[in-house]
Amino acid sequence: MEKHFAVIGDPIGHSLSPVMHRAAFKAKGIEAEYQRFRVSPERLKEAVEGLVSLGFDGWNVTLPHKEKIIPFLHELTPEAEKAGAVNTVRVDHGKLTGHNTDGLGFVRSIEEDTSGLAAGKDSRSHGKYAVILGAGGAAKGIALALADRGLKLHILNRTAGKAEELAGLVRARGGEASWAELVPGAWLGQADLIVQTTSVGLKGEKFLFSLQGINPRALVVDIIFRPAETLFLKEAKSYGCRTLNGLGMLLHQGVLAWEYWLGEQAPVAEMWTALTKAVAAD
Ligand SMILES: NC(=O)c1ccc[n+]([C@@H]2O[C@H](COP(=O)([O-])OP(=O)(O)OC[C@H]3O[C@@H](n4cnc5c(N)ncnc54)[C@H](OP(=O)(O)O)[C@@H]3O)[C@@H](O)[C@H]2O)c1
Repeated sequence: MEKHFAVIGDPIGHSLSPVMHRAAFKAKGIEAEYQRFRVSPERLKEAVEGLVSLGFDGWNVTLPHKEKIIPFLHELTPEAEKAGAVNTVRVDHGKLTGHNTDGLGFVRSIEEDTSGLAAGKDSRSHGKYAVILGAGGAAKGIALALADRGLKLHILNRTAGKAEELAGLVRARGGEASWAELVPGAWLGQADLIVQTTSVGLKGEKFLFSLQGINPRALVVDIIFRPAETLFLKEAKSYGCRTLNGLGMLLHQGVLAWEYWLGEQAPVAEMWTALTKAVAAD
């Protein structure tokens, strides 16, 4: 029987999830459709009921619904519980389970580009120092996943209170985290990993400050993938840092969601090809 999946959010027009998931179904010969729906916050409950009535097997959830959808679900996986946010819903005989693959998706994306820096099961990650710029929804999932891997975190945000809140959450869950306002400092030269999670750079604009003094051995990640290379990444590269954009994070959160729905290994290479083609065609 044909399976049905979707992504809901607002806005949703630029989502690459359909391209990636359709490529995965095609590669595996699975009869399934993946659609995208713009759902305004005030219609979220009706949209969830509608998806269930229409027989959807699951869907992805993006901004601004990742937290607001929780009251409409029956249960959460430990990952969603921990993040306090849901990016994937699975429907089993009418029961809705919320899951979160964002944090692990990020960790997987950097594992591919590092030799042990934040490698999951790798004890070498312990004691490594990661700096997270931003304290929004994406930063939260990433911070919790990195803390789980044993990295020490320093979280910086324009609204310092949100950095403090996120550092508190990490500590409450057994991790190590300090926080500060988003300004340059000694952390630039000390960080082993720097993750840029603010929306600064999405429109091609310069970052908020110069990266002069950055540790040239640091891995520097900007989770933005459009543009493919933000000015932030360009500057980090000019200091000799290894750099990575957010397309790998998008891929791996999708791979993990697909595997959660289908219960089998996702065709990662085909999903990656579909994503890179779609971005190149932008
Ligand atoms: N690669 C992926 O798969 C992936 C996944 C999710 C998100 N993203 C990207 O990640 C970025 C953030 O998404 P999100 O969901 O975390 O959004 P969010 O919850 O709205 O958080 C936005 C963050 O950006 C900061 N910010 C915004 N404008 C700023 C400015 N002018 N100066 C300094 N800080 C500023 C905010 O600081 P304040 O708290 O001070 O407002 C906050 O920390 C977006 O670019 C999004 O496209 C990528």
